[in-house]
Amino acid sequence: MGAHFIVQGGKSLKGTIHVNGAKNAVLKSLAATILFEDTVRIENVPLIEDVFRAVELLEDLGIEVERKNRTIKIKTKNLHKTNLDINIARSLRASIVMIGPILAREKKAFFPHPGGCVIGKRPINLFLEGWKCMGAECRETKRGYTLKAKKLKGCEFIFRNISVTGTETLMMTAVLAEGTTTLRNAACEPEITALAEFLNRCGAHIEGAGTHTIKITGTGGKLLQTRRKAIKTIPDRIEAGSFLALGALLGRPLKVTGCDPEHLSVPLQILQEAGVPIRKGKDWIQVSKSRKLKSLDLKTREYPGLPTDLQSLFVILMTQAEGQSMVHETVFEGRLNYIEELNRMGARITMCDPHRALIHGPTRLRAREIESTDIRAGLAFLIGAMIAKGESRVNNIYQIDRGYEHIEERLIKLGAQIQRIES
Ligand code: EPU
Repeated sequence: MGAHFIVQGGKSLKGTIHVNGAKNAVLKSLAATILFEDTVRIENVPLIEDVFRAVELLEDLGIEVERKNRTIKIKTKNLHKTNLDINIARSLRASIVMIGPILAREKKAFFPHPGGCVIGKRPINLFLEGWKCMGAECRETKRGYTLKAKKLKGCEFIFRNISVTGTETLMMTAVLAEGTTTLRNAACEPEITALAEFLNRCGAHIEGAGTHTIKITGTGGKLLQTRRKAIKTIPDRIEAGSFLALGALLGRPLKVTGCDPEHLSVPLQILQEAGVPIRKGKDWIQVSKSRKLKSLDLKTREYPGLPTDLQSLFVILMTQAEGQSMVHETVFEGRLNYIEELNRMGARITMCDPHRALIHGPTRLRAREIESTDIRAGLAFLIGAMIAKGESRVNNIYQIDRGYEHIEERLIKLGAQIQRIES
């Protein structure tokens, strides 16, 4: 059954909430340490379940991991094996990102089909095609995938669909390959740019990260020598955006600190158009509950568009807006699956097809028992419970803990009434 939250809804929130390091950045830095011969230090690490699982995967490979507060030191001198632990890898999408560096370093790897959030089919064809393009052979069985290569050679690879982890994984594989790799139609997320900048500081040759064409000149199979060994994890723009949606519903006002407003330009534009009062500085954003929220059409997009990871949070916001909004989820076909549960809380949302839904607002949400289905839907339900009058119970909060560190403690400081019940 796992732990659950008991939430007393209808409480306003006031104060400051700090944004932690980005989950989707640190999971990739952890994988990148496999490219190194010596110790790497990762700073500003969020203490979340997905990071703990990724660390367990590294330790299982024989890598030494030492954690002190938010700093992790990783020594990858020896890799005892090249196969990922099946059970852990099945629970974490980012496990596949480790395979790029393992293959590049050892010329072989085994991994099961990666798990993670149940938000759609989540195929891995682009990864496999990319590795084949660099000269690897792939054998697929019921248990998973075995990759082998005599050597990895640079190639030109075109992503048919833009893939975030696909771009990161092939970029890291190419760092240790021979020759030049060009990745076209690559993803542009800030986490990718941060990863490339770190690798470049340590001797890699990556050009164009943050654009749709990335060129990587391989270091020819030699392991990288770290020159400046620390990587500071960038702020989590999804956590920041989630808090902004929360502040727009309950803030009197709510100040989100330690974030990068430049990474949130489209979500901020949407909030502004919806009538949410916003103030911002270099690394903070303050939002307040709007007297009258305007309905808006939402469409998720690759960066710099509205992130799919913020979609459920912005849908919750639109349930409180005057009029009809359309949400169009373009990235994952299962990412509106939570809508049914939200309707049970009193929202009036009509599914048009798996990718589109009409939100009729405003609706008063009712307190009830809710099941978290994935990280972002889980947080949306928690916020739903916080705006509903009465007592709600949010189950399966492991999903929320996967991506948001000690969320209830941070929200209680703002005036929320949430209790974690361990079972
Ligand atoms: N796709 C393919 N083939 C592939 C890979 C992806 O067709 O081989 C498709 C997917 O089915 C999807 C689209 O490409 O329709 C985009 O998926 P992408 O590969 O970009 O997603 P991802 O890399 O698996 C990362 C984040 C997700 C985030 C997405 C989109 C990590 C660990 N995960 O996933 O984060 O939603 O990018 O921005 O970085 C979350 O944090 O809650 C989360 C799910």
